[in-house]
Amino acid sequence: ITVTIDAAEADKGPYPFYMLKEINEQPIVMRRLLAAYTKADGQVEMPAALLSALAAADRLYIVAAGTSYHAGLIGKPLFESLAYVPVEVHLASEFGYHLPLLSAHPLFIFLTQSGETADIREVLVKVKKMGAPTLTITNVVTSTLAREADHVLALHAGPEIAVASTKAYTAQVAVEALLAKALGDFKGTEAATKFDVTHWLSMAAAGQQTLIDQQARLHELATTLFAGQDRAFYIGRGSDHAVSLEAALKLKEISYVHAEGFAAGELKHGTIALIEPGTPTVAFVTDPLTAARTRSNAEEVAARGGHVAIIATSDLAEVGDDLVVPAIEPRLTPLVAIVAGQLLAYFTSLDRGYDVDRPRNLAKSVTVE
Ligand code: G6P
Repeated sequence: ITVTIDAAEADKGPYPFYMLKEINEQPIVMRRLLAAYTKADGQVEMPAALLSALAAADRLYIVAAGTSYHAGLIGKPLFESLAYVPVEVHLASEFGYHLPLLSAHPLFIFLTQSGETADIREVLVKVKKMGAPTLTITNVVTSTLAREADHVLALHAGPEIAVASTKAYTAQVAVEALLAKALGDFKGTEAATKFDVTHWLSMAAAGQQTLIDQQARLHELATTLFAGQDRAFYIGRGSDHAVSLEAALKLKEISYVHAEGFAAGELKHGTIALIEPGTPTVAFVTDPLTAARTRSNAEEVAARGGHVAIIATSDLAEVGDDLVVPAIEPRLTPLVAIVAGQLLAYFTSLDRGYDVDRPRNLAKSVTVE
């Protein structure tokens, strides 16, 4: 694999922090991935040996850590619905020690920005000994995990300098979508035929840009919601739940607000006890299937005095919602919705005067177990 990087990409340019620059680069990365993985006729191009290995697997195991794990959660429904293959998503640090009962023909996918995460390497070594095929999807194609896996796919996100991962996350989701589409086409599934990944990733890039252009609004929302607060909740169902986990992680990492992402319907089974007057709660409403239910969960929070903000897609938006994000194919909406979460975290950290790019206690790449 060759990955060409413009030297200017490692430079902060006019941005005060790398994180803001990297958030801004996401639409470019989407387009770069389309250029790297699709042909002029719109067909997705993936290595034949990789597609054969994936088609021979009866179950895919996505193993990752941190933000990359959250990207894996978005990938599961993509592979399952487009390529008709069951998927399990695991935290590398758990999987290494508590191996679940594996299927007869597993294939392991390691999602990792750096390609150096020790928890993942531990798993890779173990499953290679078992003779299972492995794929690493990484931003660093010269990394240890890229070298040691049977197959490698590049994220083409360009250098990610800020500790809090942004463009690598959306690149991971996009590569999962491209790969799921390619595998579905390879297997001849009807769902893959109907899934125009080029169209939807272009729409995702445009949708991300719409949010990037609303930075002033997101800064205002971040200040209204989180000023003076030391905890917060993000809620949603399905892929909105996965986005909530990632949005909460971003806020924790760089603004030190104790934020939790929750499955919207699960809040009432315990966590709602924590809602007090003013507790900030952001609800993602982007899936037609669950929109009404999530809205009623948000109302339960508001009824207890919580400060609720609704982020909804344009097709589901109602008067009074706090932010409207462009609607795209629901399985890919996370590519757009997360930009709101990233910017809310960024502005909260900025408001508090923290070093956005170098949060305390964190490292970009964790090479200890
Ligand atoms: C570190 C970083 C996180 C990252 C995680 C996994 O903890 O601070 O931002 O998500 O490692 O890293 P990877 O390089 O494997 O994606």
